[in-house]
Amino acid sequence: MKLIIINGPNLNLLGKREPEIYGSKSFEDYFRELQLKFKTVELCYYQSNIEGEIIDKLHEVGFKHDGIILNAAAYTHTSIGIGDAVKGIETKVVEVHISNIHAREEYRQHSYISPNADGVLFGFGLKGYDLAIQSFLEQ
Ligand code: DQA
Repeated sequence: MKLIIINGPNLNLLGKREPEIYGSKSFEDYFRELQLKFKTVELCYYQSNIEGEIIDKLHEVGFKHDGIILNAAAYTHTSIGIGDAVKGIETKVVEVHISNIHAREEYRQHSYISPNADGVLFGFGLKGYDLAIQSFLEQ
């Protein structure tokens, strides 16, 4: 089972950025925990602050990986391009958000990813990534 986590803009600052919303752990530390927990999964991680790079990565992995866990961060709410990329690839995508986007500003309540995702998890903190991995394992 080969899965990839793709994180969008500003998620490289996890641990430092608005810790009251996103927590105080860096994603690198959390990713190591995931690798230890899911030893049978070949787990990859990619982060970019650039919309086109996220689209390129979706094209690259979207026909060969078994699953994609995508937190497109702010691009979730703005990027028709990332939404179209999710629609155009074969690999199933689970959309994850650390915070409960529906309990926040109105502009966070629309997602261009959700209509094309196989599932959506939000509001569970970093655990959302763990739950997304489990959703692929239990298929
Ligand atoms: C986020 C929610 C987005 O609205 C925000 O722009 C982010 C992170 C989340 O994981 O809660 O950067 O995707």
